[in-house]
Amino acid sequence: MRMYDLLEKKKHGGALSGEEIRFMIDGYTKGTIPDYQMSAMTMAIYFQGMTDQETGDLTLAMRDSGAALDLSGIKGIKVDKHSTGGVGDKVSLALAPLVSSVGVKVAKMSGRGLGHTGGTIDKLESIPGFSTELTMEQFIRQVDGIGMAIMGQTAELAPADKKLYALRDVTATVDQLSLIASSVMSKKLAAGADAIVLDVKCGSGAFMRDFDGAQALAKEMVKIGKHAGRKTWAYITDMDQPLGYAVGNAIEVIEALDTLRGGGPADFRKLILTLGARMTVLGGVAADFDSACALLEKQLDSGKALQQMARFVQAQGGDPSYVLEEGKLKPAANTLAVKADRNGYIGAIDCAEVGMASLLLGGGREKKEDVIDTAVGLRLHKKCTDAVQEGDVLAELYYNDGQKAAEARARLQAAFHITEKAPEAHHIILGEVEG
Ligand code: URA
Repeated sequence: MRMYDLLEKKKHGGALSGEEIRFMIDGYTKGTIPDYQMSAMTMAIYFQGMTDQETGDLTLAMRDSGAALDLSGIKGIKVDKHSTGGVGDKVSLALAPLVSSVGVKVAKMSGRGLGHTGGTIDKLESIPGFSTELTMEQFIRQVDGIGMAIMGQTAELAPADKKLYALRDVTATVDQLSLIASSVMSKKLAAGADAIVLDVKCGSGAFMRDFDGAQALAKEMVKIGKHAGRKTWAYITDMDQPLGYAVGNAIEVIEALDTLRGGGPADFRKLILTLGARMTVLGGVAADFDSACALLEKQLDSGKALQQMARFVQAQGGDPSYVLEEGKLKPAANTLAVKADRNGYIGAIDCAEVGMASLLLGGGREKKEDVIDTAVGLRLHKKCTDAVQEGDVLAELYYNDGQKAAEARARLQAAFHITEKAPEAHHIILGEVEG
């Protein structure tokens, strides 16, 4: 078999066989197929697409490119969650302690941020002492003991995806349905959970900008999950404006902690209750969605979810007083405001640009090796549909470097679109694909 022939076939819109896909993924993982041929293939796939069969075969080939986790030593149903990535997406920080506080077992591997989207691992590392570097043995022992653990993704898990994702990132081929579906699901299948809840983001800060594309992606991933014998359920959620008000690292942890204390932004609370209720049902802890939702609301409002967060932070070497003492975790001390230049309504917020402003402050990475500043970030004061008067503060930047702050401020100012008429209200949950 030759990669050249597979390129010819895909270039003309042909469907690759399972055997051809395995040959390609094995060769790329081992390095016998070079980046330039794989780049040509991802671009051919971008234009020609893949059939469901090809997408499924690609997922399984990537899943099998490394070691799969064996979570069978952990008692109970293990439930995983994955987001396709967004701005201000602090869901895992609050969701994992929330659902594990009612007995759902959460064994989660998470990533770092790249580009305008943040990563759970970076956010958690803004808590002093917290470590996401666990051995597999520690990880499994912790899930069995306190019901949850979050660690950085190991190099052995779906290495083909790791390599291919890095290549797609620099060849403008990330936003292709089959490539995203196979990338997400290969990791989820290798990570070993029995059930998977997917948060498929849709809008200006997501890879899928329109609802139809996000729904098609959600359907594809649910199909792959079910085919592989995992209970899989997807929600399509709004990413046309940042989730909640906080964007950054420490500042997002602070917002997640407020929410675990029973407060927090309404859109964020609604999202974690929705995803959490589904995880609770799939995890066999509640009989139906509504009773699961009521159970989780109680955990938030009684402080039990916050206590579970403190237990989790302590188990991974962090100082739990940063969780329990409100106001102890702080963002950078210097602030700069972005103000409205006219009267009107917030008609739209360019979500990717808000993410870029946080990155420019030093809160994200342009290159993998970049070191981030977890204290910097921004807090929106206004969101879509809010009325504003000239001079109102739209957002506040928290910074450590004045030059970076000036650049980020200009970017953030341009991200807000003020209109004369109020736009239609945004809903956080846009749709769902049942498993
Ligand atoms: N998240 C992933 O894990 N993979 C993609 O391709 C896109 C988002």
